[in-house]
Amino acid sequence: MIFTVAVDGPAAAGKGTISRALAERFGFAHLDTGLLYRAVGARGGDPVAAARGLTPADLARDDLRTLAAGQAASRVAAIPEVRAALTAFQQDFARREGGAVLDGRDIGTVICPGAEVKLFVTARPEIRAHRRWLELGGDAAQVLAEVIARDDRDMNRADAPLKPAADAVLVDTSDLSIEAAIARAAELVAARLPRA
Ligand code: CDP
Repeated sequence: MIFTVAVDGPAAAGKGTISRALAERFGFAHLDTGLLYRAVGARGGDPVAAARGLTPADLARDDLRTLAAGQAASRVAAIPEVRAALTAFQQDFARREGGAVLDGRDIGTVICPGAEVKLFVTARPEIRAHRRWLELGGDAAQVLAEVIARDDRDMNRADAPLKPAADAVLVDTSDLSIEAAIARAAELVAARLPRA
């Protein structure tokens, strides 16, 4: 079965948690596409060469989740040649046999416009920044400023800007528990699965 779940949305909205849970529940493969951009940013040097030569070792670095890596990711993510170099890998992953969940910014709009399920997961900025602060610690005001700056850069770039696909279902996790958000997403996937 070929079945793609596209999970897009702004920083720290809960995309990763929801995507991992969906993959586990339905037996799908999961790709955190943000990790690709974080790895490109973290390599330093020419980002286009980094994107073209990305290796599994680059994705296994333990410093990719930091605030600085997030900012570097969103800078290199605005370069069209970087995005182009990462497209085929993501598209192949999306259409692999057995089902796939991809989370990112442009999965439902650019990478896989034909995805069977498209979710746009969001939450109020203060809530997202608080979640990221719980994860990373540090100065709460700085975490909020960085989340807002990154969203702004991601929404306003010319190539594949962050925006919901016209046919995406909006899931606002501001006032939802993790369990409730996962249940809502799982319901939407279950409703679209081919009947056995
Ligand atoms: O986990 P979080 O939502 O904070 O970020 P991420 O998904 O790891 O993405 C890091 C950065 O990579 C984003 O701010 C985007 O600039 C970029 N990105 C992108 O442009 N397209 C994607 N499909 C995924 C990430």
